[in-house]
Amino acid sequence: MASTKSNKIDFLLLGRVLRLAKPYKGLFIASAILAVAIAPLATAPPYLVKMMVDDYIFKYDIPGLSKMAFIYAAVLIVQVIVRYFFIYSTNLLGQSVIRDLRVRVFKHLISLKLTFFDRTPIGTSITRTINDIEAINTVFSQGIITIIADLLTIFAVIGVMFYTSWKLTLICLTTLPFLIIAGYIFKEKVKAAYQIVRTQISKMNAFLQERITGMRIVQIFNAEKEEMEKFKKINRDYTQANLDSILYYAVFFPVVDIISALALGLMVWWGARGVISADVTIGALVVFPIYLNMLFRPIRMLADKFNTLQMGLVAAERVFDVIDKRDLIKNTGSIKPEKLQGNIAFENVSFAYKAKDYVLKNLSFEVNSGETLAIVGSTGSGKSTIINILNRFYDIQKGIIKIDGKDIQEYELFAYRNRLAIVLQDVFLFSGSVLENITLRDSKISREEVIKAAKMIGAHHFITKLPGGYDYQVMERGATLSLGQRQLISFVRALVFDPDILILDEATSSIDPETESVIQFAIETLIEKRTSIIIAHRLSTIRHANNIMVLSKGEIQEFGTHEELLKIEDGHYRNLYEMQFLEAAESNE
Ligand SMILES: Nc1ncnc2c1ncn2[C@@H]1O[C@H](COP(=O)(O)OP(=O)(O)OP(=O)(O)O)[C@@H](O)[C@H]1O
Ligand SMILES: [Mg+2]
Repeated sequence: MASTKSNKIDFLLLGRVLRLAKPYKGLFIASAILAVAIAPLATAPPYLVKMMVDDYIFKYDIPGLSKMAFIYAAVLIVQVIVRYFFIYSTNLLGQSVIRDLRVRVFKHLISLKLTFFDRTPIGTSITRTINDIEAINTVFSQGIITIIADLLTIFAVIGVMFYTSWKLTLICLTTLPFLIIAGYIFKEKVKAAYQIVRTQISKMNAFLQERITGMRIVQIFNAEKEEMEKFKKINRDYTQANLDSILYYAVFFPVVDIISALALGLMVWWGARGVISADVTIGALVVFPIYLNMLFRPIRMLADKFNTLQMGLVAAERVFDVIDKRDLIKNTGSIKPEKLQGNIAFENVSFAYKAKDYVLKNLSFEVNSGETLAIVGSTGSGKSTIINILNRFYDIQKGIIKIDGKDIQEYELFAYRNRLAIVLQDVFLFSGSVLENITLRDSKISREEVIKAAKMIGAHHFITKLPGGYDYQVMERGATLSLGQRQLISFVRALVFDPDILILDEATSSIDPETESVIQFAIETLIEKRTSIIIAHRLSTIRHANNIMVLSKGEIQEFGTHEELLKIEDGHYRNLYEMQFLEAAESNE
């Protein structure tokens, strides 16, 4: 990445970040105007003090002095108000920009191809949408505009100092080179330290996220002690990185104080002699310490602000990286079906997740409208992959998949997916109520429809027994429900959407005979009157299918009805049937 390699501020990148503020042009200009207003307002009070000393106090003009005091107070109040609006407007600007940006990144993420998520750790995507975007805020709230305001203040202060007494100013400025050198060293050191801190933060986040998700495994295998040790080490490194960065502040700030004290000493030494020789007014001598303070404070902060700006830009680069990803699902089709007949045809379909590593090889088969196809095959044979490509999670490399005689790519993606319902192998539930998990917050689906569907599936009974019934709060990933219950909820979810094509990936795990019959009933309800593809692991489901497809290493080995396949001497299905299902049937009796 360009900006991490060089120390320079990447202006192209900065420009792109600033363009994010385009919808808030008014706010941006207002902030900039306030930034410009701050400089003269800041330099005015000390100058008023100088005037009061030289022109009023020494001339015993008491009414004039009262007037000046009033002006002084007025300027201070205006300054406070301007500062308030400045801080508020820059932060409002930053927050508005990152609010929009978060929406943009999330919108982009949800339309990315699944291959992106196969390759990118969850933690990274989350960091991009939260931490990195937060850092971009600082480009606006503490970065560019405040840096301009600070620079303007510095120039204004130096200007007024020259105007007040150019000799004293020159004396003071002799310390400036030291300050610049110290600032530069500090900036570089802190930048390096910050980068280490950031790496440590992401390490700690990744570690915690994974361990908390996998807490069961940690506890099952008594791995607490080892994990604790690993955590302690990460924690130590993180603390050290923070301490290192603080060290530079602890050194830099006192150094700046020493330099400013030096400037002050020089000034007093020179200035006192100047007053005696009437070269310098007493008023000037009184206000110069104030000016010096006003000069050194922003200079001290400036080094830090440049770092913040640079950090923000590094984060921006990472976020833009995500936005620039063109791995979007192709959605060029235009047909928006109200209803599908449900004729499915695979014609010489080949598919690979990774280049040339074909998981499905030259598949050709048909499912007629209203019929059910059961797919059986050993683990890893490509059964779930068929779902992935039928739903267009991934696009195929060779062949064509047709629904009702048309290539599925000719359909508008969302209209197409709307007519399909898929029950995945591992059911995913979101945190929220049971009802919300079934409707997925589609407001068109009423509570009554959900209850009706649940009754048809046979899930109503167990749902009403949950505390709160349909409003029972499901925890993340449905951790508080049993596997069978989660499965039933996902069946209701599929039925309520009333799809034309139903695809069901049965959970592999075995279930008790009682739940088995509930689930069997549910599946029969689901597949009634619609085209269905079921990846089946249980004989009862398979026997109900019109056709059975035996898949092996991505190829079709056998295709036919239950009876036909049983007739094949030494056939795959027959072996499977004898080995697996007969045994299961016997043990169930
Ligand atoms: N997202 C993915 N990226 C890369 N390879 C994948 C991906 N998903 C699955 N595979 C690979 O594709 C092959 C087929 O996987 P698939 O999930 O279709 O098997 P399956 O028949 O559903 O098995 P199971 O019965 O265990 O569910 C496997 O070798 C697997 O490693
Ligand atoms: Mg599978």
